[in-house]
Formats: sequence, structure tokens, C-alpha cells
Amino acid sequence: MTKIELVPGVYWVGVVDWNLRDFHGYTTPRGGTYNAYLIVDDKIALVDTVKHGFNNEMIDRIKQIIDPARIDYVISNHVEMDHSGSLPEIMKLAERAELICTEKGKEGLLRYYRSAWNFRTVRTGDELQLGKKTLYFITAPMLHWPDSMFTYIKEDKILLSNDGFGQHLASSFRFYEDVCSLIGYDCDTVMDEAAKYYANILMPFGGVILKKIEELQKLHIEIKMIAPSHGMIWKDPGKIIDAYLKWASGKSKQKVLVIYDTMWNSTENMAQEIVRGVSDLGVEVSLFHLRKTEWSEIVKEALEARAIMIGTPTLNNGMFPTVGGFLTYLTGLHPIEKIWVTFGSYGWGGGGVRTVNEKLKSAGYEPIESLEVKFKPDEQDLVKCYALGQKIASLVKV
Ligand code: FEO
Repeated sequence: MTKIELVPGVYWVGVVDWNLRDFHGYTTPRGGTYNAYLIVDDKIALVDTVKHGFNNEMIDRIKQIIDPARIDYVISNHVEMDHSGSLPEIMKLAERAELICTEKGKEGLLRYYRSAWNFRTVRTGDELQLGKKTLYFITAPMLHWPDSMFTYIKEDKILLSNDGFGQHLASSFRFYEDVCSLIGYDCDTVMDEAAKYYANILMPFGGVILKKIEELQKLHIEIKMIAPSHGMIWKDPGKIIDAYLKWASGKSKQKVLVIYDTMWNSTENMAQEIVRGVSDLGVEVSLFHLRKTEWSEIVKEALEARAIMIGTPTLNNGMFPTVGGFLTYLTGLHPIEKIWVTFGSYGWGGGGVRTVNEKLKSAGYEPIESLEVKFKPDEQDLVKCYALGQKIASLVKV
């Protein structure tokens, strides 16, 4: 096992979860990592741990560098169990270690683990001297839990950002810049996973992210490297910071997303004609059937789309169940700056499109157009679908 040193005295001691395929409902076809970092100075600090079940692998990696009993501080940037799950094992080995976290972190860890660890709580601006290296703490509530915080190594200018700037991506390489040159895992793949991660985990917190980046600038925190707790480490963080600024501010592409389910192909026929209308105006459009594409992939596409068109058939006087489930997920992520459109079909009784509209309105979104057909779309209905596609395409071009 080779030691991975980010800079002298700072080691990656995390694990690669090659078989991760589902992260609490978010599909992870490329696996993932749980990154933990060991900082060795006069005093020794471990920043975050790994998911339970991978504890021995992390501990073996630490033992390559030091005896875990020598750890003075265990820093928990975030209580969610993919990062705190190995705390019980490491705190047993590092008997005299202080456990450092936010006040909310302490509350969460006590509820999860009910252990009388030696806690020390910190706030933004608190520092911990390890010797030559100084750790500076920055609380980051709602990025993405109330307990979250960042740890900054002042002398090395490394931000240990926990979930922020992460991606679910298993690789034998640790740095984005190294992965870029590999066949199969190129730069675009990493950025694609970073976008998916942002869309599915951090999208609700865009405003908080913009304020936090501003706060870091005001604190004159110079960042030379970002080491998140998932995926690749960014040796040159400019690219991922720029991407976060873009995503958080809701900047979108000239792109239309058509998302639908269908019972007897009526809604599908409408969706296809809408897509033809958009496409004929030269605007990018993607079509997703809700039972044929993973929702976390569709949400990633929604991140940068300017218009979202939702199609549903009618079942039991309401929207189709997959449409309801998907809308609950999507609106919970609070996408911003979108044009919303609804369409769909019904047989003897309506209600599908109406209930989609009600769902969107209750989440604070106002569809600008709704189109509904009875039974099967006829020639005139299809002309209307095509025209609707053209109208939305012209709006996203502005
Ligand atoms: Fe919020 Fe990676 O856990």
C-alpha cells in the first residue's frame, strides 16, 4: 500500500468504494471514495473518517504512517455517517484524542453514537496549532447539514471541504489533474460527476454557497488546493470554484429538458413532437422517460437546463406516480431560474396536468404553459405540441 502525501505532512488515509452503486438513492455507477486526511506535525490530527465497514482499511493506512494511538485530535467536519461511521473504532485506538467539531456536530455525534468522547467545539476563526501547521476552522452550516464545517491548513493553504466540491468517483488516482490524462476517466468525466454531485446534494444551497465563497474571500483565505471528502482532490481549484459559482447562481444553458412518463404512448407522442419542435429551432433538447433513466441523472441534466417540461398521463384523476415522486425529489432540490411547462393526456377524466401544476405551484414554481389532450393526440394536437416546443425553444434562446 503506497502512502499518498498531498504535501509534506498531509496524507490521504481514506478508502475507495469501488462497488458503491447507490448513495442513499443517488446512483453512483462509477463508485466513490470516502476521503480522510492525516496531518502529522508535533501534534497529529485526523480529519474525518470513512463509512463503517471500511474502518480497518483506513486504520491500516494510518498505521503505515503513525501508530493511531498517537493521534491527538480527530476532527469531524460533518456527522453524516459516510464520514463519521468509523469514529467508534478510531476513538477506541486514539484513546486520548480530542474530538473536534461544531456545536451542532457534537449534538449529532452524540445522537448517532452515544459515546462520551472528549469533545471540543469550534466556530469560525478558531485555530488549532499542531506545530508548524495551523488548522483554522470555518463553520459551513447547510453545506450541506447544520453541523458542517471546513478545516483549512493555513501554511499549506489546503481547504478540507468535506462534501463541498466532491464527486462520487472511484479511481486509483487521487488528484483531478492526474485523472485528467487517463483513458476513460478524463477531465469531463470528473466534472460530470461533480455536476451530478452538486445537483443531487448541494443544489438547494446555492445561496449559501455564494455567501460562503464571499466569506472566504473576506477572510483572505487563499486556497491552493481543495481536498474534499469524496472523489478527486483539486490541486488547482479554480475550475471547480468557477463551476460552483456558475451552478449556485443558476446560470443555465440554452437547453430544454423534456421529462415524462406514459401509459399508452399518448404523452410520449406529445413529448416526441415537442422535442421535434425544439430541435428544429436548433436548440439543445434532451428527452427522459422516468422509468428508463435514473432520476439522479435527470436532476444533473436539470442543473444547467433553462426550461423544464414535465409530461404526465392521468391515473386515478391525478398525475402518474413516477411523475409525483420525481417532482417531489426535483422540487425538494429547489432548482432556480427555470422556465416550467407542463403537458399530458387523459382518458375519461382529467387531472394529470392539473395536479402537476398544483405540485409545482406549491413548490413556488409557475408553469408558463400547459397542454393537455384527450385520449390520443390527433394531427391538430401534434401541431400544438410542435408549436409549444418551438415557443419554448425561442424563449430559451433569449
Ligand atoms: Fe453529507 Fe458525504 O455526507
